[in-house]
Amino acid sequence: MNSIHTLLELRTAVTEARQAGQRIALVPTMGNLHAGHIALIKQAVAQADFVVASIFVNPLQFGPNEDLDSYPRTLAADQAQLLEAGCSLLFAPNAQEMYPNGMAEHTTVSVPGVSAGLCGGSRPGHFDGVATVVCKLLNMVQPDMALFGEKDFQQLAVIRKMVADLSIPVDIIGVPIVRDHDGLALSSRNGYLNAQQRASAPVLQQCMQAVKAQIKNGRDDYAALFAEFAQNLQDAGLRLDYVELRDAQNLQPVTAHSRQLVLLSAAYLGDTRLIDNIIFDL
Ligand code: PAJ
Repeated sequence: MNSIHTLLELRTAVTEARQAGQRIALVPTMGNLHAGHIALIKQAVAQADFVVASIFVNPLQFGPNEDLDSYPRTLAADQAQLLEAGCSLLFAPNAQEMYPNGMAEHTTVSVPGVSAGLCGGSRPGHFDGVATVVCKLLNMVQPDMALFGEKDFQQLAVIRKMVADLSIPVDIIGVPIVRDHDGLALSSRNGYLNAQQRASAPVLQQCMQAVKAQIKNGRDDYAALFAEFAQNLQDAGLRLDYVELRDAQNLQPVTAHSRQLVLLSAAYLGDTRLIDNIIFDL
């Protein structure tokens, strides 16, 4: 597996693969890879001939008080995992390579509707930063397919809408959440948790499972149900950011026609923000 850092090298390698008739997959990441990322790579390897992973901690998607500076950067370990998983090429540009004209007046891709609320409500501008960098990466690689985790469910919905609205010729593939043995969704940010916080973190998933079970049993007094949820989190030392039930097909509010629902939540454990979701049928 080659590791490259410039757009010129990327274009050369991808052109070669395309001329050889290979199907190209892109897996965008911010690095500090774990088994969730590697599941995306393995699925890409199964469906494509030439798999490009990108590692770029994208400043545009971090708010002023967020963890851009402390975000873990572990390139050597990431390279070893990508090689092992069968990745063909790692593209790891720096900010100068991605944003040669700076970020202040950069063209921005904004995906209305689906970017609002949920994580978009708590992290203003976040999904503009995500959509902008993913749009650039899709233009740089021009892959046949790009893979994203369902762990970031709203992000996946934002990217699907961007690709549809801007007629970008790529298949977007969603990959199920990979969890730790105790149910905690794997995330690079889990590394911020101390031992005590790590022990409490699975409570988010456990409480979400309890909410799902009650909804499936017919409970529909959501305000009371979510208030209990917030209290249960608080008892375990977590602070609720949001919890919502949406239609899993379009992330819109649930209607009588909704068949598949998604329960989405985010909560703070100390300064660390955890997100999770559960998709289920009624
Ligand atoms: P990052 O958080 O590194 O995640 C890269 C990809 O891995 C995303 O598609 C994410 O949904 C997926 N992923 C993370 N944890 C996962 C898990 N436990 N199970 C399954 N998939 C998981 O998401 C980003 O980076 C950035 O916003 C990015 C799309 C790269 C744009 O900068």
